[in-house]
Amino acid sequence: MKTARIIALAALATTAFAVQAQTKPKAAKPAAVAAPSPEEIVAARQAAMVMSVGATSAMRSAAANGTPVKNLAFVASGVAKWGAALPAMFAPSTAKVPSRAKAEIWTDQAGFAAKAKDFADATAALAAAAKADDKDAFTAALASTNASCKGCHDSFQAPPPAAKAG
Ligand code: HEC
Repeated sequence: MKTARIIALAALATTAFAVQAQTKPKAAKPAAVAAPSPEEIVAARQAAMVMSVGATSAMRSAAANGTPVKNLAFVASGVAKWGAALPAMFAPSTAKVPSRAKAEIWTDQAGFAAKAKDFADATAALAAAAKADDKDAFTAALASTNASCKGCHDSFQAPPPAAKAG
């Protein structure tokens, strides 16, 4: 029977796997995960940037619609984690990858660090306000978070490539 043969083959494969797993030398470690390439870091930071648009606008409309800000604590804490992680996503290794990151990020490292700190501070305040269910503090921190996005972009994000004519 075809089914029987498949089951037998599957059993055989499972046994072979088990035997192989058993005979593995004890010292063998799982294959090391390679460090992310500069291109992968750029892809991750762009993804986080896009998701932060969604997270901040969803929080703004939820708060405006009367959602208790405590219910936004989870999302706010995620944005705060991104705030803390952002600087590392602009590692010097990423400077040569085509992106909208301006060269000034690496030539004016103190200036970039200051903008990143504004964002980290604003998002930490946002998460704290949500956790404390403090709507006024939350509204203020969301405004400073949005201002810190723009504050950094104005200096360090290149405009989108011009659309091709025709
Ligand atoms: C400290 C600087 C800094 C902060 C803070 C910052 N950004 Fe960015 N953002 C950048 C830079 C630089 C780029 C270009 C990165 C690239 O192309 O790899 C960028 C890119 C983006 C992009 C385009 C992503 C894509 O698809 O290529 C969006 C959208 C964005 N940011 C939204 C935000 C929002 C929303 C916030 C705040 C919640 C924010 N950013 C905070 C510096 C910052």
